[in-house]
Amino acid sequence: MGTLKPQEARRIDALLGRMSLAEKLGQLTMMAATHTVTGPVITGHSTDDIRSGRIGNLLNLIGAGAAREMQRVAVEESRLGVPLLIALDVIHGHRTLFPPPLAEVALFDPEAWRLTAREAAREAAADGIAMTFAPMLDVSRDPRWGRIVEGPGESAWVGRRLAEAKVRGFQGNDLAAADSIAAVAKHFCGYGAVTAGREYASVDFSERALREVYLPPFAAAVNAGVAAVMPAFTDLAGIPMTAHAGLLRRLLRLELGFDGVLVSDYNAVAELIRHGVAADLIEAAALALRAGVDIDMVSGAYLHGLPAALERGLVSLAEIDESVRRVLILKTRLGLFEDPYRRGAALESAATLAERRRLAREIGARSIVLLTNPVEALPLSGSLRRLALLGPLADAPGEMRGPWWSAAQPDTQVSVLAGLRAAWPQARILHAPGVEIAGEDGSGIAAAVELCEAAEAVVLCLGEAATMSGEAASRAHPELPGRQRELAEAVLQRARARNIPVVAALFSGRPLIVPWLASQASALLAAWFPGCEAGHALADILTGRASPSARTPISWPRAVGQIPLYFGQRGSGRPADPANSYSSRYIDESNEPLFAFGHGLSYTRFSITNLRVRPESAAASATVEIDVDVQNEGSRRGEETLFLFVRRLQGRVAPPLLELHGIGKIALEPGARGTLRLHLPVAELRSLGPDLEPVLEPGELEILVGPSADRASLLAGRLTLVV
Ligand code: BGC
Repeated sequence: MGTLKPQEARRIDALLGRMSLAEKLGQLTMMAATHTVTGPVITGHSTDDIRSGRIGNLLNLIGAGAAREMQRVAVEESRLGVPLLIALDVIHGHRTLFPPPLAEVALFDPEAWRLTAREAAREAAADGIAMTFAPMLDVSRDPRWGRIVEGPGESAWVGRRLAEAKVRGFQGNDLAAADSIAAVAKHFCGYGAVTAGREYASVDFSERALREVYLPPFAAAVNAGVAAVMPAFTDLAGIPMTAHAGLLRRLLRLELGFDGVLVSDYNAVAELIRHGVAADLIEAAALALRAGVDIDMVSGAYLHGLPAALERGLVSLAEIDESVRRVLILKTRLGLFEDPYRRGAALESAATLAERRRLAREIGARSIVLLTNPVEALPLSGSLRRLALLGPLADAPGEMRGPWWSAAQPDTQVSVLAGLRAAWPQARILHAPGVEIAGEDGSGIAAAVELCEAAEAVVLCLGEAATMSGEAASRAHPELPGRQRELAEAVLQRARARNIPVVAALFSGRPLIVPWLASQASALLAAWFPGCEAGHALADILTGRASPSARTPISWPRAVGQIPLYFGQRGSGRPADPANSYSSRYIDESNEPLFAFGHGLSYTRFSITNLRVRPESAAASATVEIDVDVQNEGSRRGEETLFLFVRRLQGRVAPPLLELHGIGKIALEPGARGTLRLHLPVAELRSLGPDLEPVLEPGELEILVGPSADRASLLAGRLTLVV
């Protein structure tokens, strides 16, 4: 957590020396505020509990005025005047929303990831917030799990880069600055692997999977100086993470060197009782504290259970003090003792807010993946006169926020309808929802289909409501809900009869399984939830003002039965072979995703040739340079993203089929040719040997570079490791 100045360390010692047990437990307690017409209310408590020091931290307090007032009570009216830590889930923006994390991952641009976190931090800090429960770093290969939208997707390598970028963005260069907020890496660890993608379900995987897949993003966050970590709600092989001393104390704190604050998830300490590992709040509190959890979020277990736990000898005062000290250090690092009111002190200027919305539009457009465009229906012609805009997401501004909208109001989101009207002022936009997002009412389908009669093109906005992904939003059928398929099929049929294109845009927090739509639509876009400028961002893509450049961050399944589906899987002693029924394959479905990880088209075409690997034989200390020539073969400027994969040919542990080791981007004018150089430090090629110790095994590897994880799209070279 960085070193404190001597006077800061002395202040913490002095405070600890003066605190009563109740005041100490207050520092270890975070309670939730909600808003009523009369102002903030602390659920089950009152401001008196801040005054008495029984509550030292708050979440969900929105608005600089409310934050300032609560802070004033803590600082000016409590006995010791310890400032409050005020936290909120600022996941993809605060008032100005960017696309949610998975959609942002589709940019494959760490600098953009950092920038949106920086802007979110500035905006949240201007509202008095000092900590965000982000970034979410749960690698997940299961689109049934609604929270896949909040994180890095399927790749641990992406998770590491996302962790670094987001921690740097939220925390800035100086955590004490008025526009920096503390980041919380969550949910440690393995939450993305809940059984069958079912929310809050049990998790069980090998220590190898832990170390290869689920842990690396958290290690990267710790290295980047993340201020806090949140254990997951879930258990790992029977031990709830909130009570997992082995992973929290030994692995996270001792092995990874994390010395920041551990904040429980919402009510998770009390939920140790429901997990079946604690008899009551007293045992639950003792288990969590002993595992190293410093702050109890809302369960009240620390407040009500720790005094008895202390009396019974289940915890020691030294353990309580250790946690209080960590909380006070964090408050010190945030500059809260120096000036508790620095966040939320000044309004942001109109110019700053306008610039932030401009960025939201740009990032929104850059997150939209062009999945198919076989007949080049996109971009649509600028001279369109009549456009049918159909589907339940066409005029749904609030839904454009996606899950976790912090303080963003529905009426500040730009709907697709509004965006298209602005983009085609001369055209008539014929709009009908046809059906609701979910629900059985199909009575609007016929009227929507009728609008195709007069139109020159159809834009069909389909998908999920914002609350159908995110927390508590697992879906056993990750497809189009309600009667949307019926609407889409009727529209496709009418449009075919009239020979007009149907561009389908999917709004969702996960890849939706829609192979039938992919094969029938004239073009298919994964729009995710594009954020507050959604309509303009989509219009930028539809009109061709921006050329699509995003790539799917998830291997896109063609059937639910393929899940979990990911490029980094290991092979088999009987690899898939269509001619051999005793090989690793389905008898009723292809093994391949509908769209490979990294797939995404643009309005131009690129060719890649001439892969060079230098040196071709390298030792542990070397950095290998990998060059590839890229040519823009189309008639538009565009940006190509290339992935660097490695395939180990042999090892003592069966190697994954592909390992991601880098991303490169190159922007080229029409007809232009350039060279993209990627760097691969050989040390990065260490893998975990049979005993889980990192090893660099000598031998040959394949170096693969290309636009996606589809093997056929990759150029291959060789590298020999001499170690
Ligand atoms: C979620 C966390 C979130 C917390 C506070 C929980 O339900 O799992 O991700 O940070 O609530 O809102």
